[in-house]
Amino acid sequence: MTYEDARTTLKTCGQEHALRHWAALNEMQREALLDQIATLDPALVAELSQSLGAGDETGTSHPDIEPADVVRLAQQPATRADARARGEQALRDGKVGVILVAGGQGTRLGFDGPKGAYPLGPITNMTLFDIHARKILALERLYQTNIPFYVMTSQTNDAATRAFFTEHDGFGLAPENVRFFIQGMLPAFDADGKIVLDAPDHLFLSPDGHGGTLSALAKTGNLDDMKQRGLSTLFYFQVDNALVQVADPEFIGRHLAADADMSLKVCAKRDPEEGLGMVVKKDGGLAVVEYTELTREQKYATRPDGELKFLFGSVAIHVFSREFLAREADAGLPFHRAFKKVPFCDEHGRTVTPEQPNAYKFEKFIFDALPDARNALLLEFARGQEFSPLKNAAGADSAEAARRDMMSKWAGWLEQAGIPVPRDARNTPVHKLEIDPCYAVSAEELKAKLPAGFRVDGDLHLR
Ligand code: UD1
Repeated sequence: MTYEDARTTLKTCGQEHALRHWAALNEMQREALLDQIATLDPALVAELSQSLGAGDETGTSHPDIEPADVVRLAQQPATRADARARGEQALRDGKVGVILVAGGQGTRLGFDGPKGAYPLGPITNMTLFDIHARKILALERLYQTNIPFYVMTSQTNDAATRAFFTEHDGFGLAPENVRFFIQGMLPAFDADGKIVLDAPDHLFLSPDGHGGTLSALAKTGNLDDMKQRGLSTLFYFQVDNALVQVADPEFIGRHLAADADMSLKVCAKRDPEEGLGMVVKKDGGLAVVEYTELTREQKYATRPDGELKFLFGSVAIHVFSREFLAREADAGLPFHRAFKKVPFCDEHGRTVTPEQPNAYKFEKFIFDALPDARNALLLEFARGQEFSPLKNAAGADSAEAARRDMMSKWAGWLEQAGIPVPRDARNTPVHKLEIDPCYAVSAEELKAKLPAGFRVDGDLHLR
């Protein structure tokens, strides 16, 4: 892109100020800035900028929502075996792929590097990427199949993520079955709708949200790749959840039996303030409403039996039909905006880190596909079995909590297999536990593998 091209592009969306430091830039800086401007979609920039004038500054509200109908745990046992067999067959037939979203910036965790490189195994310090990849490898071995693994990164962590996989020999997965793809980036806008520069030669850009998965899959040829490989069903999850049951055969089977476009695992909120997107009925269909968009009354409302009215949250564990992903990629998802602290460059060219929010960031959310699904399945799951996200450096949703939850799950598996697990007064297992996914991905598999007379009398690492 030349300077003239850049001016024309910026003019069509009212953003000529992005070149205001041009005269002071050297050749390299000019080239870098032009490269960034070339990635902008001027029509989208104009649309986002103009949307700021229209909206209500306090964010969206949803006065007319009702709780969605969820298949509760208590209703589930009857058809479990059927569903499981159906999902297992889809896996055996090579019809299932896995999508991992790992493009986020992990700001709250304060970890330097892709979140997937965070060491989490209670004994081995196995990283999140390793844990996820070995779950896939375990299923490939169990069902004698290939499970293509699509990993979404962003410009900020793509190189580091690929290098991490390479350093670890792809965690045992066949390289041709692991496909990285980069999500889109978007500028931030100040209150006047002007895109923010954070240095004289640099636009502030950030990932376009996990809803960017759809357009990124399409743009990078991965939707076509899925089609060529004959995949019909895609399991989707977030990098931060160490407990996730990747490509859970029963979930896949239930999704197929319901002929669903999209299925969501949902769980009861820990407390009214927990940051889970709520699954609701809205405008005659289903939707996920982000926790920040519920009023206090909605968060705390209860039913006559005392349960929270809006109880079930989405934890970003989904199954999609491939065809629905393709349809949604064409249709495009809506944008959500948030007023955030965004570093900016002052008139002297110095970078300022603001103390207060100063600019709007825009993101798309994958769950906004839900209203478009013809059929959708909402399946309750037991939280302690499948959800313990790594979000914070300490306290709830921290690494310590995730390790504790992993060990508690494995202790439960051992006990289901009839093996006593020594526990302290607070019911916490006394010894450290770790079960490699390639040893067992489920309580049933563990039970089948353990030798007779097995005992837990010290730290236990099964692999
Ligand atoms: C998210 C969900 C919330 C859900 C919770 C469960 C949103 C808005 N909310 O909250 O409904 O209950 O997880 O843990 O998503 N990511 C990208 N690219 C991006 C942004 C995020 O790949 O541009 C990935 C991250 O790497 C991560 C996941 O999406 O794997 C979640 O991102 P995060 O910002 O942690 O979402 P939460 O606000 O915690």
